Amino acid sequence: MGNNIITIDGPSGAGKSTIARLAAARLGLRYLDTGAMYRALTLHCMRAGIHLDKPAEVAKSLATAQLRVELTHDGPMKVFLGADDVTQKIRTQEVTRNIHYVADVREARDFLTRIQRDIARQGDLVTEGRDQGTVVFPDADLKIYMFATPEVRARRRFTEMTERGASVTYEEILEDVSRRDYLDMSREIGGLRKAMDALELDTSNLTPEQVAESIVKLAKSRLAMRTRKIDQEALRQITGRDARPK
Ligand code: DC
Repeated sequence: MGNNIITIDGPSGAGKSTIARLAAARLGLRYLDTGAMYRALTLHCMRAGIHLDKPAEVAKSLATAQLRVELTHDGPMKVFLGADDVTQKIRTQEVTRNIHYVADVREARDFLTRIQRDIARQGDLVTEGRDQGTVVFPDADLKIYMFATPEVRARRRFTEMTERGASVTYEEILEDVSRRDYLDMSREIGGLRKAMDALELDTSNLTPEQVAESIVKLAKSRLAMRTRKIDQEALRQITGRDARPK
């Protein structure tokens, strides 16, 4: 029997990270930010000085990537390249601009998928990204597809950036949001798609608190259902009978 897995996929700026973290903390599950893994691998390739636009060079550089993550129950995940803590260093514009070169390479996706599945084997998990419910964990217990209109996502990012003192226009941000949506959705392998059995959550008019709370409720009822199913199975094995009312 596998561990409990909750996947949260969706476009950038839909609030996945904040919400996944809140939900994981309330459920007492570990939180995995797979976008951070793609970012770290991109930083590794940049540091290796390879031609990012050559998939074969990206694939070859995987052999020297000493990528490691540290998961927590309540804080952001930590990412390391060797001994270097790159948790903050992967959040630059330069890394963001280059990610698609790495995320488009099959070998890089397979490499990270393997690590993500290994992490899931070690315990229960809330995992967030683009392909978690479709490719990496097709049998997850609960799959959420989270979205908000590009305008709402651009407005949120614009407010966040101007509060930090960045000089950007709303139009620039909206263009960037649309460009990333295009790159994420048109990716041949691991592209952003809603899994057939994922529940859709539109976060446009909800606070992160509200969305996290709905996920917690959904998760509790799903996981309780699963426990009941397992109890039934155990009972059948012991007594040879089904205890459910006929
Ligand atoms: O979640 P984020 O914005 O930090 O992700 C950065 C990029 O990484 C995103 O634009 C696409 C890529 N990514 C991916 O291809 N698959 C994932 N599971 C997560 C992220």
